[in-house]
Amino acid sequence: MRQTLFAVLVLTVLLAACGGGGGEAAPDPERGEQLFAMNCAVCHGPAATGSLQGPPLVHEVYEPGHHPDELFVRAVMEGVSQHHWDYGPMPRIGGLTERDVEDITAYVRQLQREAGIIQE
Ligand code: HEC
Repeated sequence: MRQTLFAVLVLTVLLAACGGGGGEAAPDPERGEQLFAMNCAVCHGPAATGSLQGPPLVHEVYEPGHHPDELFVRAVMEGVSQHHWDYGPMPRIGGLTERDVEDITAYVRQLQREAGIIQE
């Protein structure tokens, strides 16, 4: 139990240290908007408001405290099993780099901010 806690702690510190992506340019929400339209909107709807195929990402469930940015990368790279909704699972989405997903996430965060889900 102790060891597990320690491992989680080390991982958290490592993740925090890598969080900046090593001095890369800041994520680009405008590029993210285009990538979202091409790869995600078919299920998550225009401007991430949801569709019959998938949930809105502009939703409290997906605010950073519940779903941090790393989970967006993981969702795209590995897919998601159905757990929050009844739309079925999300398949992994091919052809996108981690950087692409970071830009998409920046776009979604911007929409969440506009909707008042993220308060700053
Ligand atoms: C084929 C439909 C489909 C596509 C395309 C799709 N998603 Fe999803 N996505 C879903 C569904 C359905 C869920 C909800 C699963 C659940 O929680 O029940 C989901 C959940 C998510 C989640 C939450 C993950 C979690 O850990 O709960 C994120 C983040 C996400 N999608 C991001 C994206 C992004 C970014 C793209 C585009 C690169 C994308 N999705 C494309 C169907 C899709």
